[in-house]
Amino acid sequence: MQIIDGKKIAAEIKAEIRAEVENLAAAGKRRPQLVAIIVGNDGASQTYVAGKEKACGECGFKSQVLRFADSVGEAELLSVIARLNADEEVDGFIVQLPLPQHISEQRVVEAIDPKKDVDGFHPTNVGRMTIGLPAYVSATPAGIRELLRRYRIATSGKHCVVLGRSNIVGRPMANLLSQKDTPGDSTVTMCHSRTRNIKDICLTADIIVAALGQPEFLTADMVPDGAVVVDVGTTRVPAADAKRGFRLKGDVKFDEVAPKCSYITPVPGGVGPMTIVSLMKNTLRAYKKEVYG
Ligand code: GUN
Repeated sequence: MQIIDGKKIAAEIKAEIRAEVENLAAAGKRRPQLVAIIVGNDGASQTYVAGKEKACGECGFKSQVLRFADSVGEAELLSVIARLNADEEVDGFIVQLPLPQHISEQRVVEAIDPKKDVDGFHPTNVGRMTIGLPAYVSATPAGIRELLRRYRIATSGKHCVVLGRSNIVGRPMANLLSQKDTPGDSTVTMCHSRTRNIKDICLTADIIVAALGQPEFLTADMVPDGAVVVDVGTTRVPAADAKRGFRLKGDVKFDEVAPKCSYITPVPGGVGPMTIVSLMKNTLRAYKKEVYG
């Protein structure tokens, strides 16, 4: 059994990006810039945005965080988005989700210029990704694909079971794994809360991607010997003895599942660090105008 070290791979990729950015800067070019918009005080969102800002520093990018109170109106947010769309020094920007109830996430996401949508949430990017055109791919599935690539895990002809059908993880992951590509060329089954025989399906898997957001959902009796298990879960579970008062729990019961696996990602230190790095890669691609020219 081999543990997939997302933290190590993420550090390697950040160093690769940094080297490229320092070359650009040495040649007198401006640095790539990512802007994050955050609304309100949700703890997890604050942590994610702080992580993104830190990663920008590590990659040599310029970054800005625009903070708004919970009470901000949708019109004001849309006008900020219009300004960022027009700002030639901003290569990409993200609006951290979730947003307060009175703001339509869909309208906000659709207001972002697809060329700057480094989260890959705009329907134009989702559609382009789905049919295999160059696109910004949502960061978590892009990060998982990179882990599979760097660990040279064979996916061609394999049965991949994706647990979860969210627009930002399960659905794009299932799509990417089925595409004619490497990694890819898999036969994919997507399972969700209404799937009747999840255990039987998992027992036929070569690769399982668990992205349900249900702590310790995947147990040893659901996993065939030699499977590759990728754990996307990051649920905050209260823990009195933890420094921040909670622990991150994955969707996999790691201690009992790991001994059965050929490869497995831990939580933390598996998929999480790769997600942020994918956002950095997308920002560099936006700077280089690689996707839309
Ligand atoms: N909320 C949870 N994950 C994400 C993400 O990847 N991007 C944004 N913008 N919001 C999120």
